[in-house]
Amino acid sequence: MRTHSRIGLAFVIKCFATTMITIIVSAESPQPPFSCDSSSPTPPYPFCNVSLPIPNRAHDVVSRLTLDEKVLQLVNGAPGIPRLGISAYEWWSEALHGISRHGKGVRFNGTITASTQFPQVILTAASFDSHLWYRIGQAIGREARAMYNVGQAKGLTFWAPNINVLRDPRWGRAQETPGEDPLVVGDYSVSYVRGIQGDSFEGGKIDPNSDHLQASACCKHFVANDLDNWKTANRYNFDANITQQDLADTYLPPFKQCVQQGQASGIMCAYNRVNGVPNCADYNLLTKTARQDWSFKGYIASDCDAVAIMHDVQGYSKLPEDAVASVIKAGMDVNCGSYLKKYTKSAIEMKKLTEAEIDRALENLFAIRMRLGLFNGNPKTGIYGNFGPDDVCSEEHQNLALDTARSGIVLLKNSDMLLPLSKSKTNSIAVIGPNANSTQTLLGNYEGVACKNITILQALEKYVKNTHYHPGCVDFVNCTSVAIDEAVGIAKMADYVIMVMGLDQTQEREKLDRLDLVLPGKQSALVSAVARSAKNPVLLVLLCGGPVDVSFAKDDPKIGSILWAGYPGESGATALTEIIFGDHNPGGRLPVTWYPREFAKVAMTDMRMRPDPSSRYPGRTYRFYNGKPVFEFGYGLSYSNHAYKFVSSTQNKISLGPNQELSSYYMSVSEIREDLCEKAEFKVVVDVENDGEASNHTVLLFVRWDDHGEDQNGHFIKQLVGFRRVSLGRKGRGEVEFVVKPCEHFSRVREDGLVVVEEGSRSLVVGDQEFTIDVVL
Ligand SMILES: *[C@@H]1O[C@H](CO)[C@@H](O)[C@H](O)[C@H]1NC(C)=O
Ligand SMILES: *[C@@H]1O[C@H](CO)[C@@H](O)[C@H](O)[C@H]1NC(C)=O
Ligand SMILES: *[C@@H]1O[C@H](CO)[C@@H](O)[C@H](O)[C@H]1NC(C)=O
Ligand SMILES: *[C@@H]1O[C@H](CO)[C@@H](O)[C@H](O)[C@H]1NC(C)=O
Ligand SMILES: *[C@@H]1O[C@H](CO)[C@@H](O)[C@H](O)[C@H]1NC(C)=O
Ligand SMILES: *[C@@H]1O[C@H](CO)[C@@H](O)[C@H](O)[C@H]1NC(C)=O
Ligand SMILES: *[C@@H]1O[C@H](CO)[C@@H](O)[C@H](O)[C@H]1NC(C)=O
Repeated sequence: MRTHSRIGLAFVIKCFATTMITIIVSAESPQPPFSCDSSSPTPPYPFCNVSLPIPNRAHDVVSRLTLDEKVLQLVNGAPGIPRLGISAYEWWSEALHGISRHGKGVRFNGTITASTQFPQVILTAASFDSHLWYRIGQAIGREARAMYNVGQAKGLTFWAPNINVLRDPRWGRAQETPGEDPLVVGDYSVSYVRGIQGDSFEGGKIDPNSDHLQASACCKHFVANDLDNWKTANRYNFDANITQQDLADTYLPPFKQCVQQGQASGIMCAYNRVNGVPNCADYNLLTKTARQDWSFKGYIASDCDAVAIMHDVQGYSKLPEDAVASVIKAGMDVNCGSYLKKYTKSAIEMKKLTEAEIDRALENLFAIRMRLGLFNGNPKTGIYGNFGPDDVCSEEHQNLALDTARSGIVLLKNSDMLLPLSKSKTNSIAVIGPNANSTQTLLGNYEGVACKNITILQALEKYVKNTHYHPGCVDFVNCTSVAIDEAVGIAKMADYVIMVMGLDQTQEREKLDRLDLVLPGKQSALVSAVARSAKNPVLLVLLCGGPVDVSFAKDDPKIGSILWAGYPGESGATALTEIIFGDHNPGGRLPVTWYPREFAKVAMTDMRMRPDPSSRYPGRTYRFYNGKPVFEFGYGLSYSNHAYKFVSSTQNKISLGPNQELSSYYMSVSEIREDLCEKAEFKVVVDVENDGEASNHTVLLFVRWDDHGEDQNGHFIKQLVGFRRVSLGRKGRGEVEFVVKPCEHFSRVREDGLVVVEEGSRSLVVGDQEFTIDVVL
């Protein structure tokens, strides 16, 4: 055991014969909050008995509480109940891409002063590497336990991941998400949740009734919360009008995966209404869909003050007590905020709610604290009890943050192989741009305090001594005025120019959506002017979460290369410079469509995924958008070329019969016998050949509909079937294997929400290779 855990104790050391020296280490006692302290004089309550099943223990503890005590437990800051030896608990902590300083549970002003800051999620998603995502979750969970064990966390419930599908590129929280594809978002959530909760990569190790949760994850925001403030609409007043079809094949699937495959122990209901009903008051959503249809076992938290706004903003609830009653009846368990503390008792007195209904919520809440092992006596003796300061910002975790940034950064343009720059032949560089000399911008939002800080400028200086820097934009990223002469001046003298532009949290963040899709202020004018006067084509580096329309740079021959680096985290600057100088071969791919600026004409409030040609509505995401993107979903170059070949495309015909009752050319997937679905599964092997330096390359397999049948607009253009990352040596080759499940991958959702398989042909597509399969019923 580490000495840290003994701070506050007095050590008595007897020396040789006579003297006695007493050393008192007088720091603030680092004690994590826990219940059922065996050294305290409380009787042995059944809720402390680890041999009993957790539901029984949760029931027991709730049965011992008075109504006043119960009401206080329904909000994020739950007080202790000293008469029962129950500690206080804070439900609200954040860990989107590392232990965060946001939320109320964690503090950084103790033994531990920093935590590993992984890249912002959108860049991590660009690695398309689910094992990497899992390891990040694992690392975050371990750091969470360590901070808890030294008394710097008042809870172990973290309100991450954010798995709302990135529907609109202007969303200020685009950066927090794994992008626009429901499958990628769902797979990300599964990996993150299994990692942070202490499950294995394959899942199934953690029993939802055991006390082995490392930390608790929360799938948020349930559901369709993907607008923060656009014109007069904001997340509080917005009523999202969503079709059954879009709900079934875009908005809900990531949550279903997070709950079913990930076994997430938390869900957060969102502020917005869907078709008139506030999410936190939606019985169909919380209880029928999540708890009953998906077998969700865990707790449901409200987004912060989401209950209050039902009365104050949405006018959905006449009285505060109506709001409280409707969320509890819908299945919500804990309120981030104070509304339930204020109005639950009066709601019961007014008979809008029964005490039994709040008991259900409380049992869900205490069960989570028990699953975290916080009612087992001192958690330092538990399975996660030995994690301490050495487990935070460890070399392993910091390398993982670096490796993630390397894997995520996307090469968008590389004319005439400008990149990589030669280490030996690059004698001088000019670094220009408002994002080159900032550490904060690299982190993105929901950040914590980083283990280390290194700017892109500092990282570049390690490669090239003769480096000249100018921010270019006079004031900030908004770039209202530019110092063109100074920037051009240093650019002219340098061998190469690296422009570090893009956005930061003043342009896109929670509560701030963008109104357009271009670089802010005079950034593009600056880039073009510098490019015109530089000796060689310049490199443009973009830091941003949501996409920007950089067509001007894509089309400008004086701009040789473009790299997108998201917000790459504490080691992002190092990863970026390794890529620039060829110490790492880039392999990231865009997890979101980069739309042209005209897309900003679309109303952000329009939730439809499918296009509507009659009103020139273009649809959203690569699955439906009918315009020409600047860069498409899945786009990303490498310093090598990768050639694909289908190795075993033996399957040309899929039969899901026999189907006696078939009256038309489609049938509902639920009607197809499970064994026939399984029998129809087949493997697809893709051979990948790399003509250059060693690479990590992700193969994306899509399905395309060749035959659009009865319902033209309802169909995907294409849809991701799977993604696999493969490590290839220099001029190496490798194979990746996919399992195609026709009932899942060849089905589609009809307008009424029913999942059907239709007869007709589909093409499986990887890069420029494809083959066609006929589906017969
Ligand atoms: C804990 O529960 C088990 C199983 O019911 C029981 O056998 C045991 O006596 C209980 N322990 C205490 C200390 O009450
Ligand atoms: C640490 O910060 C928290 C707030 O984040 C504050 O309440 C606490 O007093 C601080 N502790 C010390 C030792 O400074
Ligand atoms: C919701 O959208 C549908 C079309 O998708 C439209 O017919 C309906 O009027 C809309 N409802 C509201 C309340 O805007
Ligand atoms: C980079 O920023 C730091 C801190 O804001 C500042 O002290 C330093 O002078 C800047 N570096 C250059 C080369 O301007
Ligand atoms: C990194 O910068 C933050 C402020 O942005 C600071 O609080 C922190 O101490 C720095 N970390 C290191 C290791 O210097
Ligand atoms: C530019 O950004 C800075 C810093 O965020 C802000 O103070 C300033 O008001 C902004 N200028 C304009 C014109 O928006
Ligand atoms: C591929 O990824 C692994 C694991 O992230 C890493 O160790 C390795 O260096 C990478 N190889 C290349 C060529 O990028």
